[in-house]
Amino acid sequence: MKKLKDSIFQQLSKVADQLNLETYVIGGYVRDLYLERPSKDIDVVTIGSGIELAKAVADSLKPTPRVNYFKNFGTAMLKYKDLEIEFVGARKESYQRNSRKPVVEDGTLQDDQNRRDFTINALAISLNQEHFGELLDPFNGIDDLEKGIIRTPLDPDITFSDDPLRMMRAIRFATQLSFEIEPATLQSITANKDRIKIVSAERIIDEVNKIMMASKPSVGFKLLEETGILAIIFPELQAMKGTDVVNGIGHKDNFYHTLEVLDRIVPNTNNLWLRWSALLHDIAKPPTKKFVEGLGWTFHAHNFVGVKMIPKIFRRMKLPLNEKMKYVQKMVQLHMRPIVLSEDIVTDSAVRRLLFEAGDDIDDLMTLCEADITSKNEAKVKRYMKNFKVVRQKLKEIEEKDAVRNFQPPVSGELIMETFGLEPCREVGLIKDAIKDAILDGDIHNNYEEAFQFMLTKAKELGLKPVT
Ligand code: CTP
Repeated sequence: MKKLKDSIFQQLSKVADQLNLETYVIGGYVRDLYLERPSKDIDVVTIGSGIELAKAVADSLKPTPRVNYFKNFGTAMLKYKDLEIEFVGARKESYQRNSRKPVVEDGTLQDDQNRRDFTINALAISLNQEHFGELLDPFNGIDDLEKGIIRTPLDPDITFSDDPLRMMRAIRFATQLSFEIEPATLQSITANKDRIKIVSAERIIDEVNKIMMASKPSVGFKLLEETGILAIIFPELQAMKGTDVVNGIGHKDNFYHTLEVLDRIVPNTNNLWLRWSALLHDIAKPPTKKFVEGLGWTFHAHNFVGVKMIPKIFRRMKLPLNEKMKYVQKMVQLHMRPIVLSEDIVTDSAVRRLLFEAGDDIDDLMTLCEADITSKNEAKVKRYMKNFKVVRQKLKEIEEKDAVRNFQPPVSGELIMETFGLEPCREVGLIKDAIKDAILDGDIHNNYEEAFQFMLTKAKELGLKPVT
């Protein structure tokens, strides 16, 4: 039996007894206590009014925390120290955090436990002094925790129809905890997959992002695919599964390749958006796939097509349409560059151009590119890795020498206009671009003097004369 250590539980106990309310801590906090995962979210269920209990608990604490009441749902929430405590009255109806439907019918603890999502999330520990610390586990949730099993307390068809998001939660918990979904529960997800359509995109993406942040996200995506949910919520990713064979020539399965890249990038980044870049780097392979006689399978310009697909995917999935999306687009656009570069002789100018385009995201791009090497051919992998080392070294040298990472033109448009007595016009742009290209190609160094001289030469070619 695990102990409730935090002093807040003694306080909850005292107040519950004063009000004569049968009270329990329930759900995720109890699960995490047994899993020894630290948790700051405490769900308290009482046989009576959660709102009344919350108010009394708040009044008993120093300093008195503010309580947020959600009268429609009969819940209340307060923050105390680093804890977030939610109070709810036990109920017969399903626990639907995000439903707009008010919940009415009061119930017993058993009613409340029946209506929870999984056996491991239905554990309750008594808080009243007489039974303080006693575990109430009607569905053998502890057994499932020990065996690593996700199972619904009731017939899964009932549990999932109460809240279809739970199908995604099952897959998310299986991914986060490395648990198995019990066969009948898994079958029910497949059978009920279409019900996911009634769930809001915001709730779905929350679960997807939790899968993305797990230590092996491929587990979740494979389960989403196997149950048929992926095809509904993310058809572009589903389309990557499978291979075609023409004239006996096949290509790799891009779905499994993508998942391998995603798993491979995990240890090297906690940046959700770099993980998304890994998931999306080849997203346009299906629409660009072509068999070319004599050449085999091609995915021409799949990086550029991928960039175009991203806003639609982000909008539909309610992912942010701001600089986070732009970052993912940049990664997808550039994802082949370091590898193409490393296959050739690594010239300074190619490295300078890459650095110019990737800017501060160059390290992330290299991380993505290294994760993208999933070949089973050891010699090939070794060669790539060796070449990447050369690229990284060159990147460092060039950045020290030429500082093009966050390129600022050494000669401004204003100066060009002033020197030649021009209004804003095409020639100004031409000269500016020519200076930039000359620097990136290594024809001149990135400094004012050389750029100014170059500007004079270029302007002369265009028939421009400096005004004196
Ligand atoms: N719950 C449920 N059905 C849902 C959501 C939640 O039955 N669709 C119940 C579960 O008993 C869960 C508890 O409400 O343990 C708290 O939900 P939540 O805070 O969303 O999840 P946790 O289980 O605490 O896990 P996490 O914090 O990782 O999301």
